[in-house]
Amino acid sequence: MRPRRFGAAGPLRGTIKVPGDKSISHRAVMFGALAVGETRVTGLLEGEDVMATADAMRAMGATITRSDDGEWRISGVGVGGLLQPERALEMGNSGTSTRLLMGLIASHGITATFTGDASLSKRPMGRVIDPIAQMGADISATPGAKGSQTLPLMIRGASPAVPIAYRLPVASAQVKSAVLLAGLNTPGVTTVIEPVPTRDHSERMLTGFGADLTVEEQDGERIIKLRGPADLKPQVIEVPGDPSSAAFFIVAALIVPGSELVIENVGLNPTRAGLIAVLRQMGGRIEELNPRVVGGEPVADLKVSHSQLKGIAVDPAIAPSMIDEFPVLFVAAALAEGRTVTSGLDELRVKESDRLAVMATALSAAGARVEEREDGLIIDGTGGAPLPGGNNAAIATHLDHRIAMSMAIAGLASMAGVEVDDTRPIATSFPNFEALLDGLAR
Ligand code: S3P
Repeated sequence: MRPRRFGAAGPLRGTIKVPGDKSISHRAVMFGALAVGETRVTGLLEGEDVMATADAMRAMGATITRSDDGEWRISGVGVGGLLQPERALEMGNSGTSTRLLMGLIASHGITATFTGDASLSKRPMGRVIDPIAQMGADISATPGAKGSQTLPLMIRGASPAVPIAYRLPVASAQVKSAVLLAGLNTPGVTTVIEPVPTRDHSERMLTGFGADLTVEEQDGERIIKLRGPADLKPQVIEVPGDPSSAAFFIVAALIVPGSELVIENVGLNPTRAGLIAVLRQMGGRIEELNPRVVGGEPVADLKVSHSQLKGIAVDPAIAPSMIDEFPVLFVAAALAEGRTVTSGLDELRVKESDRLAVMATALSAAGARVEEREDGLIIDGTGGAPLPGGNNAAIATHLDHRIAMSMAIAGLASMAGVEVDDTRPIATSFPNFEALLDGLAR
């Protein structure tokens, strides 16, 4: 454990740049490792989660190296060419690595065992097991709470796998991507039907790598078809900055009086940009400067100025486009004027922690007024006055990086500071978070 107290801060001013997008980085490594030839990646997020993906792809035959200038080179094995890993694949805290790689292995004639940390080992894997078992993979998982299937688990891939048409029962980009990755080495057309759109990085990047993939809209649903076996061609990829990491600094600048912060290189893919829309609706001043396209994704620099936020009822339909940003939105709501109501957020209970329960407890300990509902939180804000802070016991972050970072931001807007029990999980997604914050909040 590495506890730390985050104290009240003066205005956040200046310019920062956030690290590479985690979702895009995982996919760049996986797809590069499946292309024949050398893929080169700049801006890759060098966090523990992405490194877990890189280690797993190395264990299955890819060569992955980093040069001194920060560029990553990936020599792939080709779709169908994954080697049998000799050891268990150690996934650490990373749900994305686990679920996407389960899909990939499902259509290769190899057997792999997945293990993870205490947080990942509680998370439900049945949502991926169901479709890949239909495709022919054989999975044995560990029984978890409430009938769930969890890590450690073992997969024996099917060779050949059979294509399926799968309608997603939960709005999950990880499940969608797992089925598409299984489709890469499956002869015929694998179809995923998405009633609610989720982040589309897999579709964009697979198309860039030359996969035969189409996306159609029908009756408000997205229908994604992938023809296998795919032949992926190596790419040169520049990973844009992660909007989910930028989120902490966006909220920090909005709630700390006198702040005016420019955050460079923020990915603004519409399937990820929900937080910005909601914060603007609350009265947040967020300007987009220098809009451009990086790595096939829309990007801009954001200028964020301190704003008096107002509570709103957040439309549950926007949730998938800001699913990882709710913990820090709850912090913004705690400083807003009036009541913020969120609903339709059952998925938050199965993230790295139960983010509804954990944030309700954490914000209450910092002096916010929070009511936990089955599928959301209701928060009555301070109207801009700092939170009391000064919690006696350190906030329990439950191995959840986004809880630790969110409560660090709450600490900046508190009178007596907020202590979190463990900052180590921050390295899974945002290794230089504390350094950036310390550079600004002096
Ligand atoms: C991710 C999808 C989301 C998100 C996660 C990353 C991805 O998970 O919470 O941090 O890269 O596909 P779900 O698919 O479970 O919603």
